[in-house]
Amino acid sequence: MSSSAILEGVRPDAADLVGLRRAAARVLLGNWTGSSTVPSRTLYPHQWSWDSAFVALGLRHLSPRRAQRELESLLGAQWDDGRLPHIVFDAATPEGAYFPGPDFWRAGPFPGVRTSGIVQPPVHAFAVWEVFRADPAEAERRGFLARAYPRLAAWHRYLRTRRDLGGHGLAAIVHPWESGMDNSPCWDGPLARVDPVPPSRFRRRDLDHAAPGDRPTDLDYGRYVRLAAHYRDHGYDDASAPHAFAVEDPAFNALLALSELALARIAAAVGADPAPHRRRADEVVAALLDRLWDASSGLFLCRDLRGGGLIREHGVTGLVPLAVPGLPVAADLLRTACGARFGLGRVHMVPSYDLTGPAFDPARYWRGPSWFNIGRLVHLGLLEHGAAERAAALRRSMLRAAARSRFAEYVDPLTGEGHGATGFAWTAATVLDLIAHDPPKVDEVGQNS
Ligand code: SER
Repeated sequence: MSSSAILEGVRPDAADLVGLRRAAARVLLGNWTGSSTVPSRTLYPHQWSWDSAFVALGLRHLSPRRAQRELESLLGAQWDDGRLPHIVFDAATPEGAYFPGPDFWRAGPFPGVRTSGIVQPPVHAFAVWEVFRADPAEAERRGFLARAYPRLAAWHRYLRTRRDLGGHGLAAIVHPWESGMDNSPCWDGPLARVDPVPPSRFRRRDLDHAAPGDRPTDLDYGRYVRLAAHYRDHGYDDASAPHAFAVEDPAFNALLALSELALARIAAAVGADPAPHRRRADEVVAALLDRLWDASSGLFLCRDLRGGGLIREHGVTGLVPLAVPGLPVAADLLRTACGARFGLGRVHMVPSYDLTGPAFDPARYWRGPSWFNIGRLVHLGLLEHGAAERAAALRRSMLRAAARSRFAEYVDPLTGEGHGATGFAWTAATVLDLIAHDPPKVDEVGQNS
């Protein structure tokens, strides 16, 4: 691939940014249901857990109050054991609009609120703190932090006590969907041991709205359904469920560390003790380094707790710990990000999987395409670790890709072409957040609307 040719001549100027900001706001207004935001009106017509956290980061620039409500809607669906479900189903949306829907999961914290039973990466405390900072007076008036703190603390406690399946201080995921990176090649090995449900036994709804080449295969879906049904049939009880799939994932745990640091700030703001949260953040980072760091590839890897040890696939999950302040191996990660596997600065945004890897596919979901939430986390990491110019270049690459793809769900890292849904909520939210990070100047455009 010829490096700079891919990104040649593209630099959204200030006038473009004003228009882009308006268009992004329109996407978020269009996806708002009245209490939360759907990731996509077609493909994902309910509330998703980590989507909501990224959406709130963008919404805070439009309406801090609405951003608070977004997170409160998710926190309001918390289970007694502390878990935050990965989907909160919209009661007004028919069962057939999404598979697997509420009738499949048969779950929820109390009557009237139906949810899935698995979780997604714990980026919520980070989002709550950032949303608070957008308008502390409004947050204070609504008691936002005081109400969120005990729920976030219970969420982290669930991950620490019920999900440390390896016993070494990291939370394990028990379904590929829990990583948020559903069909990453990192899961191919552990998933191969799962007996797939035949495609004739369920009806996929995603293919009504997206090209099959952009989505996971039927074989992968059969395995997702089997794992979810097993967990459900064991009452979502982590102690008794067999967990045929159990993996320690670097991004999931890095986001837990980042969120523990945010929770320390939240604790201090509501008069609670921040020290335990800081200590836990340190413990998670130490466990990440001890269990998942692979010096030979300069990347964090996933660990298969059901027998396989470290998984020798290079997914973008291994770069996400860059977002953690003070990470001792940040310089190595930065080198890896800029190297042949991830091509930072030479391809569109940050690919979800090793560009040189055998399973790389530039169009299929998490097997190569670049995603905006991940780009945002890498952008944060670059700023955190003193790589301001690279961060600025990544920001430009993301704004350009969003504009050209009509806020696509993900883009081909080699061409920038959009894939999956358009009008995707966290893509629009990330655009708002990136623009706010370095807003167009009034004198550049004549007005700053
Ligand atoms: N991301 C999954 C889907 O594609 C589920 O969370 O539906």
